[in-house]
Amino acid sequence: TTRFTRRTGLLAGAALAASTSGARADEAVAPITLRDLADARGIRIGAAVASRPLANELAYRDTLAREFSSVTCENVMKPSFVQATPGYFDFHASDAIVAFAAAHGMTVRGHTLVWHQQNPAWLERVAAVGENPAGALRDHIVGVVRHYRNDSPAPVPVWDVVNEALTDNGLMRDTLWSRALGPGYLADAFRWAHEADPDARLFYNDFGAEGLGRKSNAVHAMLRDLVGGGVPVHGVGLQMHVGIGHGHAPSGTDLAANIARLRALGLEVHVTEMDVKLQTGTGPDASRLADQAQVYADILSTCLDAGITSFTLWGFTDAHSWIPGFTGKPDGALPFDTAYEQKPAYHALARVLAGD
Ligand code: XIL
Repeated sequence: TTRFTRRTGLLAGAALAASTSGARADEAVAPITLRDLADARGIRIGAAVASRPLANELAYRDTLAREFSSVTCENVMKPSFVQATPGYFDFHASDAIVAFAAAHGMTVRGHTLVWHQQNPAWLERVAAVGENPAGALRDHIVGVVRHYRNDSPAPVPVWDVVNEALTDNGLMRDTLWSRALGPGYLADAFRWAHEADPDARLFYNDFGAEGLGRKSNAVHAMLRDLVGGGVPVHGVGLQMHVGIGHGHAPSGTDLAANIARLRALGLEVHVTEMDVKLQTGTGPDASRLADQAQVYADILSTCLDAGITSFTLWGFTDAHSWIPGFTGKPDGALPFDTAYEQKPAYHALARVLAGD
């Protein structure tokens, strides 16, 4: 087996201490993983998963199952995948990821039911000019959530029901759904999802609302109104697409204060999509990787202290990260490099989870 630690120092010491009776110093010891450390704290550590490497790369599967206890489909639960043709739901790709999670004792965060991107053209048309856009949105939500409901063979217990509904200025984003249905579409989406699976935990998910500011104020106010109105919303996802360099990640005090005020509404808080861009920094590679490790550590540490229950990265290996495609520049935003070797960011996350 290759699952033996080659690490020295801190983590190898912890692994030895945690191993069962009397391992000799020269004996191989199973490494401590992020997953073990998160289990010990009673939180989930997750990663977004892409279908192609999951099917094709052994190192991808091994690393995912070893290090993480939660998965999010990076793309294949979105409307353009599950309902490319009106009324015909195709779950083959998402079911494969959910089955992998079940086989390895991992949970699944469902992502996402209502968004302004990755919709099939037919759905955009229905929203723009159809007779019953509300019916189409309801049918989509119910079709997906029922397939994965609590009493199904492969339950998905948590959903990002609505994704990115507000602008950076804290206004309602102008989307196919806000245009078709008005701002009330948010409450309706949560009610429809709740009807489809009363056991599911339903989240609002957004980016750029991690610290304190106009957008996070608006997210907080919107959630306060939804909760106050009896709408079945149970949590909020902070995406956490951040970077190294000044101003590219929220300060610890702002992040802690924001999580505290969201939790005070009775909401659970998850980090749902963390990655840390290197391209926003300066200096040589080694110093950027150290800065990145520090950002991962600071944010995880703040989140643990503030009582978050799930911490998901948007991928885990630089071999398969959305950042180069999104920014048009090479990067390395995740804790494993392109060869699945652990980067300084990995060790930083492990140290924080271990409480060192
Ligand atoms: C991204 C995926 O990573 C890409 O592969 C895809 O091309 C576009 O969507 N916020 C979200 C995620 O909520 O769904 C997005 O995922 C990244 C930003």
